[in-house]
Amino acid sequence: MGGRRSGLDKARAKMVEAGVDPVAVETFAHYYRLLEHGETGLIPESTIEPVDMESLADVEVADDVAADAIRKTVAIKLNGGLGTSMGMERAKSLLCVRRGLSFLDIIARQALHLRKEYDAPLPLIVMNSFRTSADTLHALARYEDLEVPGLPLEFLQNKEPRLLLDGLLPVEWPKDPELEWCPPGHGDIYTALRGTGLLDLLIEQGYRYAFVSNSDNLGAVPAPRVAGWFAASGAPFAIEAVRRTASDRKGGHFARRKADGRIVLRETAQTAKEDLAALADLDRHRFTSTNNLWFDLHAMKQKLDERDGILGLPLIRNEKTVDPADPASPKVVQVETAMGAAIEVFEGARLIEVGRDRFIPVKTTNDLLVLRSDVYAIGDDFALTQVASDVPFVDLDPAHFKVVGEFDKRFPEGAPSLARASALTVNGDWTFGHGVQVVGAVELSGKGAQRVPEGEVLSGDA
Ligand code: UTP
Repeated sequence: MGGRRSGLDKARAKMVEAGVDPVAVETFAHYYRLLEHGETGLIPESTIEPVDMESLADVEVADDVAADAIRKTVAIKLNGGLGTSMGMERAKSLLCVRRGLSFLDIIARQALHLRKEYDAPLPLIVMNSFRTSADTLHALARYEDLEVPGLPLEFLQNKEPRLLLDGLLPVEWPKDPELEWCPPGHGDIYTALRGTGLLDLLIEQGYRYAFVSNSDNLGAVPAPRVAGWFAASGAPFAIEAVRRTASDRKGGHFARRKADGRIVLRETAQTAKEDLAALADLDRHRFTSTNNLWFDLHAMKQKLDERDGILGLPLIRNEKTVDPADPASPKVVQVETAMGAAIEVFEGARLIEVGRDRFIPVKTTNDLLVLRSDVYAIGDDFALTQVASDVPFVDLDPAHFKVVGEFDKRFPEGAPSLARASALTVNGDWTFGHGVQVVGAVELSGKGAQRVPEGEVLSGDA
């Protein structure tokens, strides 16, 4: 037996010993083999064509259709990630957004509000990983009515061994054995929903539709109008899309596969060098994913059962260091899949263009600063409304602001006003006093620790 073969055996044994669901072990083995064979999942430009779609703004959804659909919907929030790109090792959704409310508080209140308004059970269920569960449940405990009787408030995604880049053996890290494991990306939701029995339970209780979205996107409200559109479409699966902008140029996009007419999601990692120009062409490939996704629970169950629980999504090979705080620690590979990639599995899957109000992701501290500022207002329904005419471009010096702890220290009194800003670029180590206003396009630079005084109005060319 070669070293790599035994790598899979060792990884499998480790998962079995830890009590991981057998289907999740087999799913991991499936992707391990792809990894071993150097599978890249490339989607050549010659095999796809641009895809068009209807727009939410144009569709008519009758009020009773919307109300009926939301009463059969369960809202699931993806909350298993660790926010490592912002230097976190906990769920991003625990961060405070405003007035002492965290992402989780706002998500819970959005759902509670809709329940009342539509007299809908609208269960809110969080998908946590072993790393995010305890903190998240603690934070949600204050919402006594959130848990719907007979349903859990969370389900746990699976865990899998992280593999040494060199040789693909499970990494051993006795200093902190938790770092030997990772969640298998959000594509694991399907395996976890089935493996935990939650999919069957929801169907038994009469739910028909799932709305799944990222907990770091507060625009992802389980909106009855979208539920109504999805129900009326009769589609098994749908994803909300937005127009790509210059900042999405390097990110993934939707396309139609010529061979079978299926919709696919092509990520940068799945694009060959010679096709990168086509990937970046915003007039050709116009839409990207919000990761707000709808599926019919019956169709999902049927598809998973047909495939023995393994949907067979494109592999994502995610390289990290075993200790995120130590760049010199050994390199590991995480075998992951993405939830949205499941669109290609369903015949008749649909796309719908939605406004940017349904896509307010927080991937960096730049995004967090905008969210904490006065660019958006939070209404009585806890939905976010953009009150500024434009969302400013924010670019904070990564040396001082990339990690949340450092970022927070530099805005001790909260975010500046950005409602009249078009851009804020900060180079160097700046700390902001209370009540600073940014107007137009402002750039700060300079050496050493510096401070923007309280109440200062920074203005630049608009
Ligand atoms: P991201 O990959 O954008 O966020 O996932 P992250 O994992 O929190 O951050 P980084 O990449 O480590 O910096 C988008 C959403 O999917 C969830 C995250 O919690 C987030 O809401 N997610 C991600 C999971 O639920 N499980 C996973 O295995 C990965």
